[in-house]
Amino acid sequence: MSPSHPFETDPAVLARPFPTDFTWGFAASAYQIEGAAAEDGRSPSIWDTFARQPGAIADDSNGDVACDHYHRYAADVALMGELGARAYRFSSSWSRVLPTGTGVSNRPGLDFYDRLVDALLGAGVQPLINLFHWDLPQALQDRGGFADRQAVGWFTDYAALLATTLGDRVKDWMTFNEPACYAFLGHADGIHAPGLQDWPTAIRVADNQLRAHAAASEAIRALVDDAKIGMAIDVNQVASATDSERDRRAAEQWSSARDAWFLDPLFGRGYPTLGLEAHREAGHLDDVDLVDPPAGDLDYLGLNYYRRDSVSARSDRAFDWDIGAVAGSEQTQMDWHIAPDGLRDTLVDLHQRYAPREIAVTENGAAYPDTIGPDGQVHDVPRVDYLARHVAAVADAIGAGVPVTGYYVWSFLDNYEWSLGYTRRFGLVHVEYASQRRTPKDSARWYQRLIAGG
Ligand code: FCB
Repeated sequence: MSPSHPFETDPAVLARPFPTDFTWGFAASAYQIEGAAAEDGRSPSIWDTFARQPGAIADDSNGDVACDHYHRYAADVALMGELGARAYRFSSSWSRVLPTGTGVSNRPGLDFYDRLVDALLGAGVQPLINLFHWDLPQALQDRGGFADRQAVGWFTDYAALLATTLGDRVKDWMTFNEPACYAFLGHADGIHAPGLQDWPTAIRVADNQLRAHAAASEAIRALVDDAKIGMAIDVNQVASATDSERDRRAAEQWSSARDAWFLDPLFGRGYPTLGLEAHREAGHLDDVDLVDPPAGDLDYLGLNYYRRDSVSARSDRAFDWDIGAVAGSEQTQMDWHIAPDGLRDTLVDLHQRYAPREIAVTENGAAYPDTIGPDGQVHDVPRVDYLARHVAAVADAIGAGVPVTGYYVWSFLDNYEWSLGYTRRFGLVHVEYASQRRTPKDSARWYQRLIAGG
């Protein structure tokens, strides 16, 4: 333990409990970093549209340029390799490879992912491709988007196209990232694209994502030898804000109506009773014809974990709840309650409840207002602390028998944080957007030493 930290941050000590073949990686997504929004035949996605709605994004920005990764991918991958990353989780932009969403593919778009994959393999970094990180082609939204059952077929064809193009080299696949955020934030809360506020629509979107996962997985398995297929579910720790019966019930209902809503069907159990009750009571299932989707057949479960969410009930009504960080708790710049013990407990809980074959922590990280100091460096001490505590929590879960096989930091670069625009920096590599200059932060060098085993 170094004198400046109240807990262990020494990479040599932290690395010790991990097996040598543990997958240490980075995660990112297409719209958040690629830029080149109108180049080489790419069509607009719902995020291009949403970002232009007045007031939708905190700093009125969009992903037109972002980190310009589309042009700078080679240098970015070289840096990733230098840092020793063993894997990189990126997403493909559906609008880039299938501009109208279905039908004729776009060669220059596919070529980009071809080059990216080759560069990664050349640098010794295993590619993990995620097919959907929220950026649906606008052309498909215009046809009803994921609320329409046809989306299952659209998505399966898109998955098959990428499997055919990259399946000889890419073995690690992810169908969806955080389907709950896409369905609920985008179609019920309206704070993400496509900006709708209609719960029955959100429920249909969730259902079609689960069905699309099952159909696309089958298509990928038929096309890719030894494919490993998973999905990233965001499960933060859900806690009752107080010990009151009402708050405890609210926390249980929320966790069921949100997290188990995806996990239970994926593991073949259909929609959870408690969640069904809560959604029904709140009117979210009105006119929705809900039949349990097929199980997910996951080779690994991806867990995206950031924080503890405390739930307090405003009344006895379902969904009349306050959800967030407890006042006075230790928080990141996102106002997210830092809870590394919640990561350990969530991993143990997922293992006990669902027994997935493998679990990978597919996102974990923290936003802080980083600046480049007079020495030209970014001393992001709070991020190193956050990561060290969460890595230790993963080690604890492994010690408790949970089959955790990988950990992907969110994120490699500072990037476009959705409705918060460029106001939040999650990267281990700092990006100065005006010049696109990359500066590895102290956390990047710390991670490099961790991966190297100290
Ligand atoms: C997750 C998203 C990712 C990023 C992080 C901070 O919910 O999957 O794109 O925005 O949060």
